Amino acid sequence: MAARLATVRSSARRQFAPEQAASPWWRDAVVYQVYLRSFADANGDGIGDLAGLRARLPYLNWLGVDALWINPHYPSGGADGGYDISDYRAVDPDYGDVADLEALVEDARALGLKVLLDVVPNHTSDQHPWFQAALADPDCPEASRYHFAPPSEEPPNNWRSLFGGPAWSRTPDGRWYLHLFAPEQPDLNWRDPAVAEDFERTLRFWLDRGVSGFRIDVAYGLFKDPGLRDNPGEYSPTLFGHGPEQAMTWNQPEVHDVWRRWRSIVDEYPDTMLVGEVCLADPEEIALYSRPDEMHQAFSFRLLKSGWSAESFADGVRSALDAFGKVGAPVSWVLGNHDKDRQVTRFGGGEVGDARARAAALLMLSLPGSAYVYAGDELGLPQAVVPDEAKRDPIFFRSGGERSGRDGCRVPMPWNATPGVGFSPRGSAQPWLPIPAEWRRYAVSRQARDDSSMLHLYRRALAVRAEHPALGAGEASVSRRGELLTVRSTAEGRSVRCVVNMGEHTVLVRTAGTLLLSSAPQVAHTARRTLALPPNTAVWIAED
Ligand code: GLC
Ligand code: CA
Repeated sequence: MAARLATVRSSARRQFAPEQAASPWWRDAVVYQVYLRSFADANGDGIGDLAGLRARLPYLNWLGVDALWINPHYPSGGADGGYDISDYRAVDPDYGDVADLEALVEDARALGLKVLLDVVPNHTSDQHPWFQAALADPDCPEASRYHFAPPSEEPPNNWRSLFGGPAWSRTPDGRWYLHLFAPEQPDLNWRDPAVAEDFERTLRFWLDRGVSGFRIDVAYGLFKDPGLRDNPGEYSPTLFGHGPEQAMTWNQPEVHDVWRRWRSIVDEYPDTMLVGEVCLADPEEIALYSRPDEMHQAFSFRLLKSGWSAESFADGVRSALDAFGKVGAPVSWVLGNHDKDRQVTRFGGGEVGDARARAAALLMLSLPGSAYVYAGDELGLPQAVVPDEAKRDPIFFRSGGERSGRDGCRVPMPWNATPGVGFSPRGSAQPWLPIPAEWRRYAVSRQARDDSSMLHLYRRALAVRAEHPALGAGEASVSRRGELLTVRSTAEGRSVRCVVNMGEHTVLVRTAGTLLLSSAPQVAHTARRTLALPPNTAVWIAED
């Protein structure tokens, strides 16, 4: 009875409280990240495309997400999975054309789904007309839009490419140019106003076509130390993000003015938003990018970079809530993306990795803020083993094979249990990355028929989250006892506890409430108000 009254009260509050009605969609949105090249191939060339994605929109609607973010869809030199763009106001013919994108946005809107695009302002492709002009004539206006240095024995400073090797390469006429990623991705010089102007045109071009905003690549980059001085130290990929050791390359104060300007542009378009990739070590520095007049969100990568440890997860959740809380922005949680090994594999692989990935999903989806779900994570895809000869990632090549690269989390989606797993129509070209034969068992069609599948867990979690005011919104507190992690979220006077057993033994948990959802089917109340929580399992408990 008490529970019933609470429901009535809260729905009445929802209807009349103006701040509820005004809460923007993105604050608690679940955003599905579509790796376009690997999502669905409609025309049979072995490459995912916009028409394929469009045909699969009903799946995303059935799953229950609010929005999709599409990895770069632009014409590209193809050196870094589309993050080397040669034309910012067009669609790569591999994926379709601008009309296909407009049709996608329209169909998505009809289903209540928003579409976010990826925009890459730190660098262009070396195929971009500006860079081509600068190569041909060192004195042309386009040359000052990049960082060139005159020929000399040594590169201008000690900066390293994030993909391995020096951050400077030579032009055919001996000049140096800066690339913090691959040599095919020359860094733009944001001190040249022509660069800013062109990006503003790009934003408006896509906003005018109805998109709901942008994911901003390398949003902590763009500006460099004006004197291009040496960095004090070297970045290690084991760090949570860049810190003072890379002070000359990243996080220059001027970059915040770009986000203020971009914010004012998207503010002209109702219900749009910006989310930035900010890979800095200090969560407080990251949160500054989502101050009220800058980007709406900046990703929090702590869960993506944490191993299976309650201490690390608790610290990641707490530090993000504190840091973003200070600037009044929601946290944007991420457990997987196209740059990181798949969760199932990261958390130990096999059945254990699978159980942990389920539990981690429930944890993320219980937290206040928005959540980003990477395509295929809802199927529990493991990191695929891609043979070296099929690899595409520049990280693999630039590290001389020392780093295996990111191809294994970019393998096409299995849609059905046929030999080609339904990624392309029957009889098509081979997929652009080979799909492991055993991936049939992860197929959407198979999991959709199995009530205990990872897919159904995600779908149920999203449905419960959409219903319960305390999931995705409100205040949360984090507590930890050994390997038992508890996050208690409260909104509108109602609370949910997400309890995760990250240890090796079953733990008895006092429930004092209703079991809303469990990441493992075998969880049940053993006695009144007590629940036996097996290792690698999470539950959502609504407090009465
Ligand atoms: C971001 C992208 C990554 C890309 C890099 C360079 O980190 O997520 O995929 O390689 O930027 O654009
Ligand atoms: Ca295709």
